[in-house]
Amino acid sequence: MTARRVNDWLEQELLDDWHVIADLESMEVGIDRRTKLFGVDLVATVFATSEIRVERPDTGRSVASQKKYGFLWASLGSPDRDVVEISEAREVDRHLVTGGSIAVNVSGLRLVENFLDMGHFPFIHTDYLGVEPHTEVPPYSVEISSDDELWTRDCRFFQPVASPTAKGGFMVDYVYRVIRPYTVSLYKSNPNQQERMDSIYLFVQPVDEENCVAHPYLCYLKDGIDEATVRWFMQLIFAQDKPILENQFPKRLPLDPRAETPIRADASSVFYRRWLRSHKINYGAITAAG
Ligand SMILES: [Fe+2]
Repeated sequence: MTARRVNDWLEQELLDDWHVIADLESMEVGIDRRTKLFGVDLVATVFATSEIRVERPDTGRSVASQKKYGFLWASLGSPDRDVVEISEAREVDRHLVTGGSIAVNVSGLRLVENFLDMGHFPFIHTDYLGVEPHTEVPPYSVEISSDDELWTRDCRFFQPVASPTAKGGFMVDYVYRVIRPYTVSLYKSNPNQQERMDSIYLFVQPVDEENCVAHPYLCYLKDGIDEATVRWFMQLIFAQDKPILENQFPKRLPLDPRAETPIRADASSVFYRRWLRSHKINYGAITAAG
C-alpha cells in the first residue's frame, strides 16, 4: 500500500481513515464536545434521536462520523474502508469496556511503539506486568501479514499480576498486532482459561503531531471479573505509562533508520518504524528528510 501526501500536510491513508474522537459514555445529549484531529478543530454533538454530527468550525461543514464499539469515530477525508473489525466484540462471554480516554503529551506513534514494548514491564509496571529479576524479553517473531498488518507472535513474559484475576505470577503469552498506523492491539493469555485470550485494542487519536488521546477498548473474558475491575486495572497501568511517555524526547517518533537501536528486544519497534516508513507516514514522526 502506498500512501500519498496531501498538500504536504497529511497522508491520504490517515486523512481517509476512521479515528476515535470520543468515548460515547462521556458524552451528553445536546452538549457539544470540542476536540481535535490532526490539528483540525472538531465539534461533536449527540442528539436525543441518538444521531450524531461532527462539524469543522473552520469550514462549517460536517465530516464523516459513526458510532461503533462505544466510541465516536470521525474521518476528515472520504473513508474507503470501515472501522477496524473486532470479532471479539460479538462474543457474549466478554466484557466490552471502553477504558476512558487518556490525553498524553506525545506523538500518538510513540504511544503505539510503547504499547508494543515488553522490555519496560519490570521497570514501569513493577509487581504488575513485570518484576526483577525477570527482565529478559525472550526472542519472538515479527512479520508483515499478506494484508499488510504487523504481527508479533510467540512473545512470552513472566508477570506477577498479569490481569486482575491472576493468582500469582505466570508466563504470559502475548500476540501484538499493528492494524493501522494509529491502531494497535494485543492478545494475552487469560489466567483462568489459558487456551483463550483477553484482548486490548488501543485507538490513538492524533490531536496534533505531539499530542494524542489514548482510547483503549478492552475485550476481557467475563470469567471471574467484573467490568469495573477491568477498567480500573487498565487505568492503573496507563497511569504508569503516561509520565514516561511525556518525558520522551523528541515528542515525535524518529523514523530515520539511523535512529534505530539494533537490540533484540527492540525488534517490534524496529519493524513498526520500518512499516510506518513503507506507508510513508510522516504525521507525528521525524523523517530523514526532516
Ligand atoms: Fe506500559
